[in-house]
Amino acid sequence: MSRFRSTIRSLCARSSLALMAIAALSGCPDIPDRDAPERPSRDALPGPDDPNDVTLPSASDDPGSSVPDAPSRVPPDPRPPSLAEVHAQVLRPDCGACHIDRSPPAGNLFLRQDAQLADRLLAPSTQAPHLSLVQPGDPLASYLFLKVDGTHVDAGGRGERCPVGGDALPPTSRDLLWDWIDSQSDPDRLR
Ligand code: HEC
Repeated sequence: MSRFRSTIRSLCARSSLALMAIAALSGCPDIPDRDAPERPSRDALPGPDDPNDVTLPSASDDPGSSVPDAPSRVPPDPRPPSLAEVHAQVLRPDCGACHIDRSPPAGNLFLRQDAQLADRLLAPSTQAPHLSLVQPGDPLASYLFLKVDGTHVDAGGRGERCPVGGDALPPTSRDLLWDWIDSQSDPDRLR
């Protein structure tokens, strides 16, 4: 019964009007043990197994703390990369020595960033004319991706993996190319 008493005391301490009314009816703070069965159910209170637990749910005590730290929040999808970003991070540094700075450019593929770059990338490959260099939304049908992935010959192309004579692209650059091509939804325009 002492557990019940401490519960009622805690209700008295908390200033809910309804609970105060109940507490007043019960003769708070001195609660006769014999009244116990008539009192409101303990099921509605926290910590039924702990007589010392007189704390109400923390969310009602401090509503501000439960909002920003909610663990179930899913971060928004990252923004897909743009052609300008792919050019700055991959095409210029990893391909430019042969496909921008050489004249004529290697493999007759000119990767300078100008107003026609997107149109050149949407055109068929010279080495595998049945494939576009970039097929919007489909990296595995994009010869430019296959060429750096080393799977271009299996796809009906020819020549070396690019960069010719150098290391394969690091995974971050390869993934960037993949994500960029994969995110393209307009068949006539690259972003
Ligand atoms: C060291 C020089 C060099 C670098 C760097 C290089 N390439 Fe190449 N690339 C070539 C040469 C040479 C060819 C043509 C001969 C061959 O394919 O083996 C070629 C051909 C290509 C072709 C075929 C073009 C077509 O129309 O079929 C693609 C696509 C290509 N490169 C993409 C790239 C990409 C993307 C990069 C950068 C990630 C890159 N290359 C970096 C030398 C290079």
